Amino acid sequence: MGALSVNNLCKTYIINKRQNNVLRNVNLKIKEGEMVAVMGPSGSGKTTLLYTVSGMDNATAGKVDFFGRELTTLNANEISDLRLKEMGFVFQQMYMLKNLSVYDNIILPAYQAAGNSRAVRQEINDRAKTLMQKLGISDIAQNDINEVSGGQLQRACICRSLINRPRIIFADEPTGALNKQNSLEVMDVLNRINSEGTSILLVTHDMKVASRCERVLYIEDGNIRDEISLGKSSDQEDTRERERCLNNWLIKLGW
Ligand SMILES: Nc1ncnc2c1ncn2[C@@H]1O[C@H](COP(=O)(O)OP(=O)(O)OP(=O)(O)O)[C@@H](O)[C@H]1O
Ligand SMILES: [Mg+2]
Repeated sequence: MGALSVNNLCKTYIINKRQNNVLRNVNLKIKEGEMVAVMGPSGSGKTTLLYTVSGMDNATAGKVDFFGRELTTLNANEISDLRLKEMGFVFQQMYMLKNLSVYDNIILPAYQAAGNSRAVRQEINDRAKTLMQKLGISDIAQNDINEVSGGQLQRACICRSLINRPRIIFADEPTGALNKQNSLEVMDVLNRINSEGTSILLVTHDMKVASRCERVLYIEDGNIRDEISLGKSSDQEDTRERERCLNNWLIKLGW
């Protein structure tokens, strides 16, 4: 089954009566279990694309099929329910709540989805602990959100995005604020989550990050101009070969 199928998607912003056609007839498909990166110049529409295909913003025209459901036909409640339960988000601007601990931020979306059942809450607590362990942030569980490093915060965001076991993760520059070592760790985590079956669509400026994805799309002026298939990334593989391949392609595109 397809995870995401986008047909002739358009997004136009109007500011001071001036139209800005940010997405112009975008077509793309993400297969279930695929990990795809979107690259392209600043202002080309990458973030807008993530927002519109995930129902965070309305499309001006076009269709978005999410695992067999047409987003443009759903009402606001249906969309927020879908987003809460079936999509995970890791975005540049961190939507973590201040004055809450890392742990509470992570479990919040799961409590929202679960209601009041005690047994379900216990299961959520267990899941949160396992996730935090996996991502190496167990020891900061009780820290306030503003008492952790950028890398820890990003890993906490990933934990939170996974807490409801989403079918897909949308990530905008998931390593944008991180140093090299932390970026590699976050990509290891995303690769592992993907190998366990979660589809991932991420936006990045970082060639090393994109080279860990299965397929890379290049967007320019609101349109997908080209794409390259690199195949699934595996631990054993020589990453330099993937990076060389991607780099040559980007140079040809004038990136
Ligand atoms: N909420 C908004 N209202 C009006 N215009 C917007 C809005 N969001 C984005 N834009 C405009 O849409 C265009 C694309 O923006 P977008 O954020 O999608 O680019 P991007 O490819 O993600 O860039 P970057 O790499 O810098 O993050 C820009 O011209 C931007 O000014
Ligand atoms: Mg952006």
